[in-house]
Amino acid sequence: MIDLHSHILPGLCDGSQNLETSLAMARMAVADGTTHLACTPHIYPGLYNNNQPGIASAIDSLQIELNQQGIPLTLVMGADVHMVPEVMRGLKDGMIPTLNQSRYFLLEPSHHVPVSGFIDQIENFLNADYVPVITHPERLRWLGDKYEEFLLAARMGAWLQITAGAITGHFGRTARQFSERLLLDGYVHIIASDAHGTDRRPPILSAGIQAAIQLLGDETEVMRMVQERPKAILDNASPDTVSLPPALALSAGHELAASHFHKNPTVNKKNWFNRLFG
Ligand SMILES: [Fe+2]
Repeated sequence: MIDLHSHILPGLCDGSQNLETSLAMARMAVADGTTHLACTPHIYPGLYNNNQPGIASAIDSLQIELNQQGIPLTLVMGADVHMVPEVMRGLKDGMIPTLNQSRYFLLEPSHHVPVSGFIDQIENFLNADYVPVITHPERLRWLGDKYEEFLLAARMGAWLQITAGAITGHFGRTARQFSERLLLDGYVHIIASDAHGTDRRPPILSAGIQAAIQLLGDETEVMRMVQERPKAILDNASPDTVSLPPALALSAGHELAASHFHKNPTVNKKNWFNRLFG
C-alpha cells in the first residue's frame, strides 16, 4: 500500500518529535503493509514554515536511517499545505513541494471556518494544471454546511483524501459519519493515515480499509484508494487515465467542461462540444 499523508519527519511540525518515534512509526507502517510513505509536514505560514529544501533534506536523513536499520519503507516528498492565498506562488517558485514532484499536492482547508472563495481557489489550481488533493474533508467542522461545495470541487477535478482513522471512529462520531457519507456517495479518491505518532494517530491503514470494504462491499474500489490512485500520483499520471471514484466516473468531464465554459467560452467551447457530442 501507499500512504500519501504522514507527519513522520522528526521535529518539523506537530507530528513526530524525534528520530526514535519516526523509526517506530516506520516499523508500524511496514508491519501494516505500507511500502511507500509520503512525508508531508505541515506548511502553515507563521506556524510551520517548512519548505521544499528543508523537507527534502529531512527525508534524505530519515531514509538513510531506515536503510541502516533495515526497515523496507520508501519515503517520498510532499507537504500538508494549508489553504492560504500564497499557495499558488509557493508551488510555482518550488518552495512548496507537490507529492513526489507530480502535479498533485495535499491541500488542507481550515478546520474551523469555511475558506472564502473555496471553489475559485480550487479552479485556479486546476487551471494551472495542478490537482489539489483535499485532505480530510470529513474532519472539517464546516463540511456539513458546505458539503455540496466539496462534491463540486471533486467534480471539477480536485481529489478527496479521507483519513483511515476517521472511518473507524478515532476522530469521533461526526467525522466517522461524514467519512461514510463521502464513501457511500462515491467521491473518495484516497485513504491515508495522516499519522502524527505511534499512539493516537498511528500510520495504520488496514483497519480503515477493512471498515470501508465492509461499508461499500467493494474491495476493488477501496484498494484503489491505497494502491492504484496513490501510485498514479507518484507516477504523475494524468487524472484522465486513472479510475475515478464511482460518482465521478461519468460526471467529471461534463462538470469541468461546463465550469470552464462559463468563464472562458472561446477557449473551451470546442472541448465542451467534443466531450458531449464528440
Ligand atoms: Fe496532516
